[in-house]
Amino acid sequence: LPAKLYGNRRNSGGLEFGYRADLDQLVAGLARATATVNAQPLNPGLAASGKAQPVLAPADPGREVGSVVFATAADVDKAMTAARAGFARWSRTPVQDRAATLERAADLLEKHRDALMALLALEAGKTLDDGLAEIREAVDFCRYYAAQSRKRFATKERMPGPTGEDNHYGWRGRGVFAAISPWNFPLAIFLGQVTAALAAGNAVIAKPAEQTPLIAYRAVQLLHEAGVPKDVLIYLPGAGDVGAALTAHPAIAGVAFTGSTDTARAINRTLAEKDGPIVPLIAETGGLNAMIVDATALPEQVADDVVMSAFRSAGQRCSALRLLFLQNDVADRMMDMIEGAASALKIGDPMDPSTDIGPVIDHAQKEMLETHITSMRKSHAVRATGKAPETGTFFAPHIVELDRADRLDREIFGPVLHVVRYRAKDLDQVVESIAASGYGLTLGIHSRVDATVSRIIDRLDVGNVYVNRNMIGAVVGTQPFGGSGLSGTGFKAGGPHYLTRFAQEQVVSINT
Ligand code: NAD
Ligand code: ALA
Repeated sequence: LPAKLYGNRRNSGGLEFGYRADLDQLVAGLARATATVNAQPLNPGLAASGKAQPVLAPADPGREVGSVVFATAADVDKAMTAARAGFARWSRTPVQDRAATLERAADLLEKHRDALMALLALEAGKTLDDGLAEIREAVDFCRYYAAQSRKRFATKERMPGPTGEDNHYGWRGRGVFAAISPWNFPLAIFLGQVTAALAAGNAVIAKPAEQTPLIAYRAVQLLHEAGVPKDVLIYLPGAGDVGAALTAHPAIAGVAFTGSTDTARAINRTLAEKDGPIVPLIAETGGLNAMIVDATALPEQVADDVVMSAFRSAGQRCSALRLLFLQNDVADRMMDMIEGAASALKIGDPMDPSTDIGPVIDHAQKEMLETHITSMRKSHAVRATGKAPETGTFFAPHIVELDRADRLDREIFGPVLHVVRYRAKDLDQVVESIAASGYGLTLGIHSRVDATVSRIIDRLDVGNVYVNRNMIGAVVGTQPFGGSGLSGTGFKAGGPHYLTRFAQEQVVSINT
């Protein structure tokens, strides 16, 4: 079996879900599981009022994965009325029962792994590696948030003090949460938001990305099957206009959003201006993620980690490496090795177990990447590594050599690595240029000098720092994930404080 399907110990922690998969069984299971998925209304009386539309496979646009009827802004109010009724019951459901429901959902995700992986490959273009890792992450979110809710919310804390009263401190759900997610982790992030909100005692209206409504549909079906009442979790497929209407609704009690920094700003403005209570926005957004490699780094490891960080998942991870700083003294050698490793990657059908890189999500994304490369070619050395198939939205990895870091001023979401060379004496300037971007999601450091590593970490406000390894694939519960500045609000997903953002505190003081 290819080692990669066993995962890499370092990157396959997970909480309980076994990462191992027998390749033959997996491939046979996937082949059986590629049925068309036509999303049907999941709540009585809440049929979406938009038009039915096909969902096409990015790897093969002639192939229809299924169909969906998008909601319209007019459907939001009905969904809200139903979810408010659901919240009234779910918020009084014992924490233990809510947690057990999420654990049953985890079991169902595992049981339906093959069908979900097939959908991830067909609808989102995920390779088998990425599909397996994504299911593990989704399962981990269910179990981790269930465990966290038991730990934090199950009992009220007595607060001793001088008042002579009984003071009880506890947590409760806020109301109906909007969960708005991106296409790049259409199962794990979709369910991460949903399960956190549910575990904290909220009802949820979940709007998946318009590119990936079918995986979300199957996930919601499984949560309903696990016992989440249909009016406690409402599936609302649609485009950005539906997300905008949802966040503008006066009865919304909070928003969990993952996506671009620009959309997070738009939601922030909407929440500031809408009627109703002042509510929290939990935003996890983009990054302009850098890696610094000095002359003490191990070249083979650097090449491996750079290629993994920049090109795995076709670079469509918020955590992915965008800007690589190579110390001059070793830059030529490192570049040769990185290009060599990148050209060995196989780009193609995500259902083929030997594929390393699948398609980018859609034509718009491919065009954005082509435009960026055309513009970069005007004044920089640009090399494509590997050859992308011509049909489907494939895009070969590219390496762009920049003379200065500030030539890249925004996140380019795809398999494009930008490289800047630096002199050892200019390390502080490198660090300043990373800080100047305003993003703070992930950072990689390859150095065997502890003082250099600490000097860099101390000066940068970055959410997840990876030293002498790749910089993707944070493990739920072990490597809580999320950034600061333009990269997000915190608290970190998969971390011990995340659920508290979805809940509110209450103190009851009884004069005895
Ligand atoms: P996007 O911002 O375009 O869309 C995300 C979601 O927001 C979609 O469901 C979309 O329909 C919805 N939306 C769009 N406009 C809206 C509006 N005005 N109001 C409410 N909702 C609206 O992002 P994307 O292209 O789907 O995802 C890629 C981005 O997500 C990248 O920037 C990536 O870095 C980021 N991302 C961040 C993390 C993280 O954990 N920090 C994880 C994954 C992806
Ligand atoms: N949690 C994802 C990663 O770490 C985004 O790559």
